[in-house]
Amino acid sequence: MITSSGATLSVKASGTGPVVFLLHGFPLDHRMWLPLIETLRGQYHCIALDLRGFGGSTLDGDYSLADLAEDIECIRARLAQNQQINLVGLSMGGYVALEYWHRYGQHLNSLTLANTKPSADDPAGSAARLEMAQSAISQGAWSAVSPMLSRLLPAKTLETNIGDCVREMMRAASSDAVAAAQRAMARRREFTELIPSVRTPTLVITGELDPIAPPDATRQWSAAIPNCIYREISTSGHLTPLEKPNEFRTILTGFLNGLSA
Ligand code: MLT
Repeated sequence: MITSSGATLSVKASGTGPVVFLLHGFPLDHRMWLPLIETLRGQYHCIALDLRGFGGSTLDGDYSLADLAEDIECIRARLAQNQQINLVGLSMGGYVALEYWHRYGQHLNSLTLANTKPSADDPAGSAARLEMAQSAISQGAWSAVSPMLSRLLPAKTLETNIGDCVREMMRAASSDAVAAAQRAMARRREFTELIPSVRTPTLVITGELDPIAPPDATRQWSAAIPNCIYREISTSGHLTPLEKPNEFRTILTGFLNGLSA
């Protein structure tokens, strides 16, 4: 547990080696990374953060995604001191990873953007987020987030233990955490014009069946990043590291090994 400007942050740290810093999607927590961590911990020091309000991390009122980038820096300074990190963010975690790159790019050895996008919301998109925030407060978190389930996982996967695991994380999310995250995402920075200046080696991954970060659009924006590899994981939906941890591990470690070659 580490304190950063009012919030107490919970991290799962496991393994030794170069740092792989993992940022989860919404409305989940660090547990979405556990199957991947099992496959990486023999070779890497994995640090999986619970973003403010999720998992074991506390919430101290509204925040911006820039505040979450400060949380990452606070943890890097404590747990990875003089090391550069390999930052991996999925979806909302990807928005935060871009914010970290923008503020602290010098501390990045590499950047992995999974099932995410650099664009901000259009007015309808941010209005829908503010509506979900309102509904989480008035109707409860589960009723606000449960309609997302069918977009997070393919129908077949929803029936498996992966579906149970995702439901468990979603049920654990509080109304305040859901509302604060939606308000922060609604106000997030537009990165589309900035990504051509990413100099950090970057890996972009999405799932063949991801409706939130579909392959065509993802391939297209990733081409704007100069030093970027794009990979697609077949038959996976939005939560690639949870659905296909071995494929994700193979792609990620192939990328990371290529950096030090
Ligand atoms: C996520 O998986 O983090 C969310 O789908 C992100 C979003 O709502 O844009």
